[in-house]
Amino acid sequence: EKGGHEYFMLKEIEEQPTALADTLRGHFVDGRIILDEQRLSDQDLRDVDKVFVVACGTAYHSGLVAKYAIEHWTRLPVEVELASEFRYRDPVLDRDTLVVAVSQSGETADTLEAVRHAREQKARVLAVCNTNGAQIPRESDAVLYTHAGPEVGVASTKTFLAQIAAIYLVGLALAQARGTKYPDEVGREFEELCAMPDAVARVLSTVDRVRELGRSLADAKAVLFLGRHVGYPVALEGALKLKELAYMHAEGFAAGELKHGPIALIEESLPVVVVMPSPKGRAVLHAKLLSNISEIQARGARTIVIAEEGDETVRPFADELVEVPAVPTLLQPLVSTVPLQVLAAEIARARGYDVDKPRNLAKSVTVE
Ligand code: M6R
Repeated sequence: EKGGHEYFMLKEIEEQPTALADTLRGHFVDGRIILDEQRLSDQDLRDVDKVFVVACGTAYHSGLVAKYAIEHWTRLPVEVELASEFRYRDPVLDRDTLVVAVSQSGETADTLEAVRHAREQKARVLAVCNTNGAQIPRESDAVLYTHAGPEVGVASTKTFLAQIAAIYLVGLALAQARGTKYPDEVGREFEELCAMPDAVARVLSTVDRVRELGRSLADAKAVLFLGRHVGYPVALEGALKLKELAYMHAEGFAAGELKHGPIALIEESLPVVVVMPSPKGRAVLHAKLLSNISEIQARGARTIVIAEEGDETVRPFADELVEVPAVPTLLQPLVSTVPLQVLAAEIARARGYDVDKPRNLAKSVTVE
């Protein structure tokens, strides 16, 4: 049942191309994005004037990634909130607010309570969920299912990628309804998403070196992760995976924050994972990150750089280089997260821990 793998998590990492393809399938018909149980009309979507994404843990990170795309495509303000904070904060909600509740299990207590709170305030709630008929979709106005299949490993992997794809579909549906993108542009974005299963499969074909790298990090005391733009939530997710699986101190930072404190943590041979943007995308982001890496390298850190294939400029700053295929900027998290999942799993394995069942954690958190 583990498909020849030692752990479910490794099998689930390998299933990511399929999870993505299955999540996208059937959502672009006759030149239009369609969502699943669309109990929201086009007019409802047109009326939306603000979007909240509420979720916990890895699902929250998928929302952080999607914020960049939804704001860019729709020009709507998007706030991403931890479900456990959202409901105690008296958020400003009304019937023109769309709340996207993201949950693999559909049973997470904090996310469910956030949904209930949003609906009491008359906001419209769309659930992104991997489990048919779970409580969160049952209590929402509309549902978009991720079709990642059952995820047994406690650490979310394939559902993270599927969540990003699903929230991107919500973003495109909003852009289509609001007319902020022409139909052919929406079609092109969808096509680019459909190329991602192949791109992720290419990343998977090169993970042996990442596993080796993971083994070499097994004795590290701590690992830092840095990124900018969509690479920032990827850094947070890489750090979360390492904490929960390898019980190692790990932290993700926005690279621009380095100078505002975290750079003081850098010391000789501290491993720092840097998620590079594409050199062909936003040149300014790429240049800024290069300068961040050179600063931490100069202070003796061991730099582990996730960069686009053929990005030669980064080589001098990378003690270890992990290459991922070139994809459009907003889709980079779908490729750059994969080596970080493998890294965490391999470090945990090398330390002798049960990768599928990390201590103190449950797959679904049904208490607040
Ligand atoms: O089932 P949910 O997506 O609502 O779960 C939310 C978090 O508990 C979950 O994403 C958790 O952070 C991951 N399993 C960590 O890998």
